[in-house]
Amino acid sequence: MSLDKVEISVSDTFKIDVDKNMTVPAFKLDEKLLESEHLYIPEIDKNYVFDKETTLAILAGFKYNRRVMLQGYHGTGKSSHIEQVAARLNWPCLRINLDSHISRIDLIGKDAITLTEDRKQITDFKAGLLPWAMQNPVALVFDEYDAGRPDVMFVIQRLLEEDGKMTLLDKNQVITPHPSFRLFATANTIGLGDTTGLYHGTQQINQAQLDRWNIISSLNYLPNQAEENIVLAKCANYNNASGKKIISNMVKLANLTREGFINGDLSTLMSPRTVINWAENHEIFDDLKHSFALSFLNRCDDLEKPTIAEYYQRCFGTDLVLKAVYSG
Ligand SMILES: Nc1ncnc2c1ncn2[C@@H]1O[C@H](COP(=O)(O)OP(=O)(O)O)[C@@H](O)[C@H]1O
Ligand SMILES: [Mg+2]
Repeated sequence: MSLDKVEISVSDTFKIDVDKNMTVPAFKLDEKLLESEHLYIPEIDKNYVFDKETTLAILAGFKYNRRVMLQGYHGTGKSSHIEQVAARLNWPCLRINLDSHISRIDLIGKDAITLTEDRKQITDFKAGLLPWAMQNPVALVFDEYDAGRPDVMFVIQRLLEEDGKMTLLDKNQVITPHPSFRLFATANTIGLGDTTGLYHGTQQINQAQLDRWNIISSLNYLPNQAEENIVLAKCANYNNASGKKIISNMVKLANLTREGFINGDLSTLMSPRTVINWAENHEIFDDLKHSFALSFLNRCDDLEKPTIAEYYQRCFGTDLVLKAVYSG
C-alpha cells in the first residue's frame, strides 16, 4: 500500500526552537489513510509539550528510518513523546509492552487449525504482531525494552539484523519491511541491567543488540514551570492565583517523590499523569489531602508513607494523617 506524504514544518508542528525551514514527512490524512490504518494513529494531545532533543531524535527516526531508543526514568514522557510525534505525522503507531505477558508466539504468529468451507481441517499460519506491523506503514514501539524476556528478545534480535528483514522460519518466508515501517524502543535503564536497584525485572541487553539501535536519546523530567503549564492546560479551573499556587506545590511534591525514588527512599513516584489526576480529583472531591490519597498515597507502600507525609508537609505546610500506617 502506498500512501501520500506531505512535508510539514517542525517548528510550527512541535513548537520547538529549530530552523524555520526544517520539515519532516507526514502522512496526508485522506480517505486512503483513513480506510487503512487510521485506528492506529494515536490521538493528538493538544497540550503536549515537546522536548527539543527528544523530538529531534524521534523525527530522525521517522524521516531517515533510524532505529531510536529513548531512555529515562518512568513518567518522563518517553512513550508519550513517540506517540504524540506519530499523532502529528498521522503515522500509525503500535506499542508493544515487553513488560507484559507478551510471548514469542504473539510476536511471530503460529499455526492455527481452521475449517474450510467444505469442513476440512487445515493448518493455517496466523501472523503475529511483528509480521503484520513490518508490512505496514507502522511505527512499532517496543515499550520497556529492557524488561523483555530472553525468548522475546531473541525474536527482536532477528528484526534488528542489518537489512531489517525477518525470516519466518515456520513459514519459510522472508518479510521485507514496508518502506514506512519504523522501529522505536523505550527503556528505563541503558541496557546495563538494573545497576541502581530501581528497576527490578530489567535485563541486561546484549551489547551487540544495543549496537543495532542507531540513536539512543535520554529524557529527564520537565522543568517545574513546563509541567505546571501542562497541568494548567488540562485543568482550566486552576487558572487563577490560588489555583496556580496549588498546582505549583503539587509539582514540587511530585519532584520530591522523583528525587526520593532516584535516591532509593521511595519505590513509587508521581508521574506528570499522577499530578494531573490529583488536580482533577481535587476538583471532584474538593479536598486536597483526600484527593492526594486517592491519586497517589493509597498505592504507596505503607513503610514509605511517612516519607511522603514529610514531603507533603514541606510543600503544603500541613500534616497528612496517615491512617493506614497505624492499622496493624
Ligand atoms: N511533555 C509532556 N507533555 C504533556 N504530558 C506529558 C509530557 N510528558 C509526560 N506527560 C504525561 O505523563 C504521562 C506519563 O508519560 P509516559 O510517556 O507514559 O512516560 P514514560 O513512558 O517515560 O514512563 C503521560 O500520560 C502524559 O500525559
Ligand atoms: Mg512508557
